[in-house]
Amino acid sequence: MVKICCLGAGYVGGPTMAVIALKCPEVEVAVVDISVSRINAWNSDQLPIYEPGLEEVVKQCRGKNLFFSSDVEKHVMEADIVFVSVNTPTKTQGLGAGKAADLTYWESAARMIADVSKSDKIVVEKSTVPVKTAEAIEKILTHNSKGINFQILSNPEFLAEGTAIQDLFNPDRVLIGGRETPEGAKAMQALKDVYAHWVPVERIICSNLWSAELSKLAANAFLAQRISSVNAISALCEATGADVTQVSHSVGTDSRIGPKFLNASVGFGGSCFQKDILNLVYICECNGLPEVANYWKQVIKINDYQKNRFVNRVVSSMFNTVSGKKIAILGFAFKKDTGDTRETPAIDVCEGLLGDKARLSIYDPQVSEEQIQRDLSMKKFDWDHPIHLQPMSPTAVKQVSVVWDAYEATKDAHGLCILTEWDEFKNLDYERIFDNMQKPAFVFDGRNVVDAEKLRKIGFIVYSIGKPLDAWLKDMPAVA
Ligand code: NAD
Ligand code: UDX
Repeated sequence: MVKICCLGAGYVGGPTMAVIALKCPEVEVAVVDISVSRINAWNSDQLPIYEPGLEEVVKQCRGKNLFFSSDVEKHVMEADIVFVSVNTPTKTQGLGAGKAADLTYWESAARMIADVSKSDKIVVEKSTVPVKTAEAIEKILTHNSKGINFQILSNPEFLAEGTAIQDLFNPDRVLIGGRETPEGAKAMQALKDVYAHWVPVERIICSNLWSAELSKLAANAFLAQRISSVNAISALCEATGADVTQVSHSVGTDSRIGPKFLNASVGFGGSCFQKDILNLVYICECNGLPEVANYWKQVIKINDYQKNRFVNRVVSSMFNTVSGKKIAILGFAFKKDTGDTRETPAIDVCEGLLGDKARLSIYDPQVSEEQIQRDLSMKKFDWDHPIHLQPMSPTAVKQVSVVWDAYEATKDAHGLCILTEWDEFKNLDYERIFDNMQKPAFVFDGRNVVDAEKLRKIGFIVYSIGKPLDAWLKDMPAVA
């Protein structure tokens, strides 16, 4: 029986290992974490992350061939294959701060693997890491070698949150990078055999280590670049009377471009895109490629511009001040179908509005009050460190209240901002919301989910990203 251990029971480690356990009943999978509370949650009825379909998969395998444990060393020692899926956040201090990946958690995991191992192991990079990390990890593992053979593989994860289970069941591809040696090839085959239980072999791509590491950063950069491209065009649409949905459709029907990932928005969020592009930028700079670094930096600059533009639009539309005004925020997660708020554009938008002294009433179906308060009081980049290292009792931001209903959030509000595309926001009773709001009542749709014409008929002044502007909004231009 092959034994797998995964270090890191997070958004990647948990779902990925649950699917491996489901699809490979003869493989024993242990998911371990230094956060005892996270492991306890994985062993309870209330899983630590919300992901459609995840609970069913976990319930089918937990206690059979899937185990969650905080006994990290025991499971690493026993495993044949060790996946490392720990945090690789952006560095907050020292060399490369604000750009480079912080490999503290990865390095300590590698040192622990080297210390406790008594048999040969395949060590798999599941976390997203800078190119050449495998070389550093190899050095750590083979230093103080006790005659143990470690083979390092890069097997980056491409799942997206909210669709993780379907992405894992039916991936576009699985990428495995390894050393071009007989031992490397054997290790790659062993990992390929695991995935081949359910992934067609033609979708399992093998490459060298550095190509696999770089492919992950490049894929995220390309995806984010599409969003920044359509968001840049959305600003031009508003200035010219073009409609970004129509432009995206026309552009996306070119089979060379394709229709996906062309939805204009208040900006992209999530724990990966910004972090991985900053990491890519840093690697380019370190390799003496400033032009390439600057090219990718623009993707983030446009994303920041889009979030600022949204805040400025809200403030300028409401007579250039939101001081003391109640603004409802509908949606705080970085996308629908997840409770994850890491790098959500909602944080920047809320901070922008708070900077103009607005009072915020926030509703998200999956995000707790504690999480929102913590996000709004946390320093940039601190959010992506292991949860047990984050401040547990944040100082509540006074001008913010968190409510559990969209109607409560919008009561007596001057404006409402839709920041996550939750399906339920499409079908709210907007007549009721309008009746209970201050007038003029504004809707700022950062995800293009509402039927703007219908809302205008009710009496709202509506702003939708990249859509032709109301006469009111034209008279109150936002300066980005
Ligand atoms: P996460 O914060 O949800 O989980 C990481 C876990 O690792 C935490 O629970 C932490 O306590 C644990 N950990 C840290 N150091 C440890 C150690 N030494 N031993 C055991 N556990 C340890 O992070 P995540 O979202 O799962 O991301 C993990 C990696 O996968 C990152 O590199 C990320 O870039 C990459 N990734 C994430 C996604 C995504 O959608 N979230 C997708 C693809 C790739
Ligand atoms: C991303 C990658 O898609 C995934 O392959 C990688 O493994 C991890 O990073 P994730 O961040 O979970 O996944 O979600 P994704 O669906 O990519 O959305 C990221 C952000 O972009 C969200 O804020 C989303 O709302 C936004 N987005 C996405 C847009 O604004 N417009 C789009 O057309 C698509």
